Amino acid sequence: MTLLYGTTVTLRPVVEDDIERLTQILNEPEVAQWWPRYDSKRIHQELIEGSHVAAFAVVAEDDVVGCVQYHEETARDYRHATIDVFLDPAWHGKGLGTDAVRTLARHLIYDKGHHRLAIDPAVANEKAIRTYRRVGFQPVGVMREYERNSNGEWQGGLLMDLLKRDLH
Ligand SMILES: CC(C)(COP(=O)(O)OP(=O)(O)OC[C@H]1O[C@@H](n2cnc3c(N)ncnc32)[C@H](O)[C@@H]1OP(=O)(O)O)[C@@H](O)C(=O)NCCC(=O)NCCS
Repeated sequence: MTLLYGTTVTLRPVVEDDIERLTQILNEPEVAQWWPRYDSKRIHQELIEGSHVAAFAVVAEDDVVGCVQYHEETARDYRHATIDVFLDPAWHGKGLGTDAVRTLARHLIYDKGHHRLAIDPAVANEKAIRTYRRVGFQPVGVMREYERNSNGEWQGGLLMDLLKRDLH
């Protein structure tokens, strides 16, 4: 089992027993605003059964406080990985998001050999953009009408990327 140690958080693969807790977190309005339309069935399909992403539970003080995941583009000439994250609002504002994303970024670059990572927060998600900048991600540009928001309307996404030398 892959265990990744950050400054405060530990990352370990999501297991069946995490589904209830992660569903609870995804139902928090502050999280659902950016991760809309998740129920336990969808979480199970995407985070446990799915081969599309590798998902880690973010653990702090023996509690599952969120999830951070990655997807790898394996085509040789376009090889890179993308990251996504959510945390329980009760744990926001303590540096855990930065710690979780940085810890996964280190794993992808130093253990998995990626030279480039990407992340695509909603343009309006200022909190997430600040977190990603702290890790070293830089804005590339706005992808217009990129994804549906919680009201079902198309919203822009900010493409950000990080090269190995940007990671801090
Ligand atoms: C995005 C998200 C993961 C950020 O989590 P977080 O733990 O609050 O983020 P950070 O680690 O960047 O910490 C945020 C604040 O804690 C402060 N902080 C306190 N102690 C800190 C420490 N030891 N180290 C770093 N920052 C610390 C920072 O200064 C920062 O303040 P600021 O945002 O006012 O500048 C979280 O807001 C979240 O889950 N949001 C809902 C879901 C979501 O939007 N996901 C992203 C989709 S793209």
